[in-house]
This record gives sequence, C-alpha cells and structure tokens, in this order.
Amino acid sequence: MLDILVIDDDLRMNQLIVEILSEEGYSAAATSDSREAIILLRERHYDIVITDLKMPYVDGMQILTTAKQSNPDALVVMITAHGTIESAIEAIKKGAYDYIQKPFDPDQLLLIIKRAAEHLFLIYENKRLQREVKSFLQDDIIGVSRAIRDIKGIIEKVAPLDATVLIQGETGTGKELVARQIHKNSARAQKIFLPVNCGALTETLLESELFGHERGAFTGAMAQRKGLFETASGGTIFLDEINNTTASLQVKLLRVLQENMIMRVGSSKPVQVDVRIIAASNANLMEAVNSGTFRRDLFYRLNVVNIDIPPLRQRKDDIPILAYHFLNKYCRKLNKSIKNISLDAIEILNGYSWQGNVRELENVIERAVIMETSSEITPQSLPPEIKGSPADPLSCLHLMTIDEMERFLIMRTLREFKGQKNKAAESLGIDVTTLWRKIKKYNLE
Ligand SMILES: Nc1ncnc2c1ncn2[C@@H]1O[C@H](COP(=O)(O)OP(=O)(O)OP(=O)(O)O)[C@@H](O)[C@H]1O
Ligand SMILES: [Mg+2]
Repeated sequence: MLDILVIDDDLRMNQLIVEILSEEGYSAAATSDSREAIILLRERHYDIVITDLKMPYVDGMQILTTAKQSNPDALVVMITAHGTIESAIEAIKKGAYDYIQKPFDPDQLLLIIKRAAEHLFLIYENKRLQREVKSFLQDDIIGVSRAIRDIKGIIEKVAPLDATVLIQGETGTGKELVARQIHKNSARAQKIFLPVNCGALTETLLESELFGHERGAFTGAMAQRKGLFETASGGTIFLDEINNTTASLQVKLLRVLQENMIMRVGSSKPVQVDVRIIAASNANLMEAVNSGTFRRDLFYRLNVVNIDIPPLRQRKDDIPILAYHFLNKYCRKLNKSIKNISLDAIEILNGYSWQGNVRELENVIERAVIMETSSEITPQSLPPEIKGSPADPLSCLHLMTIDEMERFLIMRTLREFKGQKNKAAESLGIDVTTLWRKIKKYNLE
C-alpha cells in the first residue's frame, strides 16, 4: 500500500484530490498547512507527495527538497496554477516526478498517480532483487519463474537417485548448470563430473575418446588408452549435444546404458563401468526420433527423467534477477562497484528476445559492467542490438492521447540527457529544430 500525502493551502482542493484517489483505492493523507507538511514529511516515509507549488509559509520547492531528503525514492507531483508552468519545469529539473496544471480532470491526475505507482513498484522490486542476489552462490540456479522452480524441485528429487537424466533446451538455457547441480547433490558428488561435447569431435575420434582404445587399434594408436567412461568411473559423465551423435555411436551408447559395459576400440573384451549418465540436447530429441536421426530405443533409455528448460523469452520473470546476479558476479570479478540497474535498462532487458538465452544475458551484463562509468547500469552501456526491440512501449502509456505521450516521451528523454538537446534529439530520432518546436508546443522549456 502506497503512502500518499496531499498538500494544498486550498482545503477544497485537498478534499477533492483525496476523494479522487480514494475512489481508485489509494489512501491519502492531506494537510492545508505547509508547515505541518514539513513536520509530517520528516516524521514518516511517504511514497508519493502531491503538492501545490505556491503556498504561504513553505512553497512546493521546499516540500520537494524535504520529501526527497526523508525518502530519496519519493515521487513528488507538483500542482501548478496557470502561469506558473516555468516553476513546474524548474521543479522537474530539481527532481519532481511530474506536474499537473489547475484546473485538471480527475483522470489526468489518476493517470499520473498510476504511472507513479508502477514506477515505485519497479524501484522497490529493483531494491529487493539487489538485496536478494547477494546471498546467491556462484553456481546456484537462479530464477523465480514457475519453470525454474519446477526444475529445482525435479533436481532435488532425482539427484540422489542414479537415474539417467535427459536435459533439453536451446543454447545457453543452462543445461550444463543443471547437470552439474544434479551431480553435486548426488552420492557421486565427491567424484568427477566429466562433460563431453558429442558435437565437437568426428565420429571415430569421439568413439576412441569415450571408450578408449587398445594399442594398434588404428594408425597412431601407439599405446592402450582408457576412455572417458572409465575415467569418469564412480562419477557422472555429461554427454552434451547428444543429438549430434551418429547412428553407430548411438548403438554403442545404448549398450553402455543397458549393460553398464563398454568395449575399447580394437578390443572384444567388455569392461564394466560405473557412471551416471546425464545427456543434453539443444534440439527436440523426440522430433529427431520421429525424423529418423536418433534411435528410439536410446531415446527411451536416456529419457528416464526429463528436464526441459524453456527459453528465457518464455520466462521473462527471471530476467531481472539473473541480470542482478551477473552484475554481482562481474563486479566482483572486475573489481567494480556498480550497485544498480536503472529502470529503463531493466525495461530494455525485459523486452529483448534473447535468442542466446541466459548466456547472452550474461555476456551483455559483463560487457555493461566493463563499459559503464557511472554507478548504475544504464541503457547507454547496453549494446545497440538489444535496444532495438523495446518491451511493449505502450504498456505504461495507455489511456494517454498521442500528444500527451509525445510530451511525456520528450520530457523523459530530456531528463535522461540532463537537458542536452542535441543528444535528446538524436535519441528521439528527430532533428534539433523539430525538438525545439515540440518543446515550445508542449511548454517544456
Ligand atoms: N538459471 C541460471 N542461473 C544462473 N546462471 C545461469 C542460469 N542458466 C544459465 N546460467 C549461466 O549461463 C551460462 C550458460 O549456461 P550453460 O552453459 O549451462 O548453458 P547450456 O544450455 O549448456 O548451453 P549450450 O547449449 O550452448 O551448451 C553459464 O555461465 C551458466 O552459469
Ligand atoms: Mg552446454
């Protein structure tokens, strides 16, 4: 629940605003004595302060200063009478959130308050995340989405069993991270976790890597060599990109799964192995089975437990917390102290499609930590391709007219560039003279 304080020396105006707000479910306190307002602001934490600009004793500017001193996140909305618009602009420059001109339409006020409430929600959410990520360990699986919570539940259940697990997901969704977590929570945790990329080697090479070979098994096989299945004995082997294995290798893998036996290349003597197998595929393996490129019997052997990790764009809830996690990680690694991700930067991250999933997000944050010179990650330190696809830009601007929207956008951009018109115009994609004209039209000077 937001704490709102309304300050206007005109008692009727106070009542009107409190009524408008309470009809929408907001509760607001009000005072018509600006001196009392100062005391109230010093005593408690208000989220939103709606104040008249011109009042006896203490004016709106001083209210603004006091409100910000007692709660730096407080959003202050100025009420101005006709003819005092310059002071309202001045107030915005000094950190007021917005202004509204008397006489106003109740909807106009509600729109501002609604937008302020959304803004505050993001600020508080941002702070909460900042505190929360501090407690994460480096290899924790981070996420608050339903999907990630379910996956953590499955890991907890299957890790202690020796069951084979098949993990599916697009590139960069965290398949290897999940596999390591399963190993870490199993009875084999003290033994080796051995990742093998099945897509990186030719068939013959992969085969001799996995199963080892006898001396003279092929040209260049000068000595007998143990394979990875034997090396991983007692531990876990992680067969990554299993979808890229050939038909003949698939037969051999099937034998390992069925009999826990391998045969070194060039040998006919089976060797018993004791490994847990976790496999990963970045393509839908069932489709590969149906199209005939993957053996059905091997698929069923692998698919004892199935973990599907959805792409990041389908679990957007995880984006802010992951971003903070990586911010924390790379600040520590690169010895920088960036504490925060600005709200517009979070909005941009939320809106991007993340074809490279969590890995791509991690790279973007690492780069931003390197590039950023201020104390928070801002859109300026994000790569241009990310900024090309904003989240639904209209999501917070509904109920506005086109003119209001334009005025709002220009005002926000000017604020972002601290009034530098050349830069603001460039970011808005218009030339400076057009910007000047619009500033005049909307009285933003
Ligand atoms: N939920 C998560 N929480 C924290 N870090 C994550 C999460 N998901 C992925 N990562 C990180 O993202 C990076 C990529 O993850 P990982 O290598 O496990 O992906 P992958 O699915 O195996 O990718 P590929 O298919 O390309 O091999 C790693 O640095 C990993 O730590
Ligand atoms: Mg991987």
